[in-house]
Amino acid sequence: MKLFIDSANIAEVKDAYALGIIAGVTTNPSLIAKEKQEIKAVVKEIARIVPGPVSAEVISDTYELMLPEARELAKLADNIVVKVPINVQGLKTVSALRSEGIKTNVTLIFSANQALLAARAGASFVSPFIGRLDDISEDGTQLIKDIADIFSIHDIESEIIAASIRHPLHVTHAALAGAHIATIPYKVLLSLLAHPLTDAGIKRFYDDWKNANS
Ligand code: E4P
Repeated sequence: MKLFIDSANIAEVKDAYALGIIAGVTTNPSLIAKEKQEIKAVVKEIARIVPGPVSAEVISDTYELMLPEARELAKLADNIVVKVPINVQGLKTVSALRSEGIKTNVTLIFSANQALLAARAGASFVSPFIGRLDDISEDGTQLIKDIADIFSIHDIESEIIAASIRHPLHVTHAALAGAHIATIPYKVLLSLLAHPLTDAGIKRFYDDWKNANS
């Protein structure tokens, strides 16, 4: 499973990319709004820092507006993937973008059938939101498993991005369930590294070395 960072914060993206573990970035309108900067400038800068796929989301709600907005976003850099919501307008947009060779990430997926439709419309990526499902007592991990099984049985090439990751166990579960990618907030990425026995072990090695050499 590849790792993306789910952030529109330039400093976070830079720091995470420097760790050598980040293969792409996802943003969304809420994340961009938090940064209080113009969407195109933020997305362009992120796409310069990370050479992998960088998702930028449309905010229009009709096909007629979504399509030109998506084309504008796609022009920002070669590695832009246009993020489109799963609904009628979104599917039409994804299908049109596919015929133009523009990659899409279909977002706000909460059922296996939504993922199947997105894939058939030509999505390069589908993003099931596991944390938001868990929040309402549904099983986000099971959704990833179901989508992974369906895609594998039917030779579907769209990649599954486990999104709405809230904690380290979500990452483990998404990997075991067959997600191709997990998109992870910076804070959760750092918490994947942490273990109290690692900290204690580093301290003991350091202390033993210091005592023997003083
Ligand atoms: C994914 O692409 C979304 O940006 C994100 O994972 C949503 O996560 P949230 O449910 O924490 O807002």
